[in-house]
Amino acid sequence: MTITTVTLNAAVDVTYTVDRIRTGASHRLATARHRAGGKGVNVARVLTALGRPALVAGLAGGPAGDAVRRDLAASGMAEALTAIAGTTRQTVTVVEEAAGDAAVFLEPGPEVSAAEWRAFTRHFARLLGRSRAVVLSGSLPPGLSEDAYGELVAAARRSDVPVVLDTTGPPLLAALAAGPDLVKPNAAELRETVGAEDVRAGAETLRRAGARSVVVSLGAEGLLAVAPDGVWRARPPERLAGNPTGAGDAAVAALAAGLADRTPWPERLRAAVALSAAAVRAPLAGDFDAPAYRDLLSRTAVTALPAVTAVPTPRPADPAAVPLS
Ligand SMILES: Nc1ncnc2c1ncn2[C@@H]1O[C@H](COP(=O)(O)OP(=O)(O)OP(=O)(O)O)[C@@H](O)[C@H]1O
Ligand SMILES: [Mg+2]
Repeated sequence: MTITTVTLNAAVDVTYTVDRIRTGASHRLATARHRAGGKGVNVARVLTALGRPALVAGLAGGPAGDAVRRDLAASGMAEALTAIAGTTRQTVTVVEEAAGDAAVFLEPGPEVSAAEWRAFTRHFARLLGRSRAVVLSGSLPPGLSEDAYGELVAAARRSDVPVVLDTTGPPLLAALAAGPDLVKPNAAELRETVGAEDVRAGAETLRRAGARSVVVSLGAEGLLAVAPDGVWRARPPERLAGNPTGAGDAAVAALAAGLADRTPWPERLRAAVALSAAAVRAPLAGDFDAPAYRDLLSRTAVTALPAVTAVPTPRPADPAAVPLS
């Protein structure tokens, strides 16, 4: 049994490193790194490095799709990607060393036909039979309905396989009614999806719409988890410098492993924070610094917060409840 990760918009991630970007100039590169990417691929890479069986599913096509398959094989990762006629996209990250920052360019991805989607969903239904948990991550390529993740969540629920969903906006909203076990927006994605609410209120909104538990990642501030059995806050011991791209994917890997193993929430969250913080310390998305992970695990704090009790309806007879104006 494995944890299956789904990447519908897989990519060849290309990383260029320059001193700084100069508009109007040519930039000669010492090296260019190419590797299989997409959020679900990053999650599977982290799980594989933890020594946990993981399987990469999703869509791949054209020469870039072949490159993704070859890279996964070279990394010792199992894949069951579904072939499509279109060409898998590239993403380009230009790391500016002088600024200690990066610019990321994301292609939209190939157009997926209705027949290709049907082939994928049939294949996914078969993969559920060998999955202890599934992870659905990232954007949807053109051609797919906004409800694509909703369909996959419903299929996983019918097969009793726990499902983690990491996406944002309309595809996230459309999937909530199907009842994902866990959704993991970051703070900006939560705002984009439910509007300007505070983090706790936003998480409660996603739960009312159908998510069983919500884990909001807050960058260097850690995580807030709202689950049926409690509310927790987990924080890394310090803000780390490095590459935060892919830290959320490392958090998702730990949360999916915890869901598959039914680990108690505080332990799950401690692992998610320590692993994601250790991912900041590794230069490429999908990698983490293993010694840093062990060190951070022992120093990550998890605190239980009071669950919200039902707000009593104010009685007009109560003077304290009378509006002031
Ligand atoms: N600078 C940092 N120092 C320590 N820990 C960090 C830092 N940045 C991120 N983390 C850890 O990584 C987790 C996920 O980070 P973040 O909220 O940025 O995810 P994300 O935006 O979904 O990332 P991505 O989608 O690029 O993988 C945080 O909850 C935290 O545990
Ligand atoms: Mg993310």
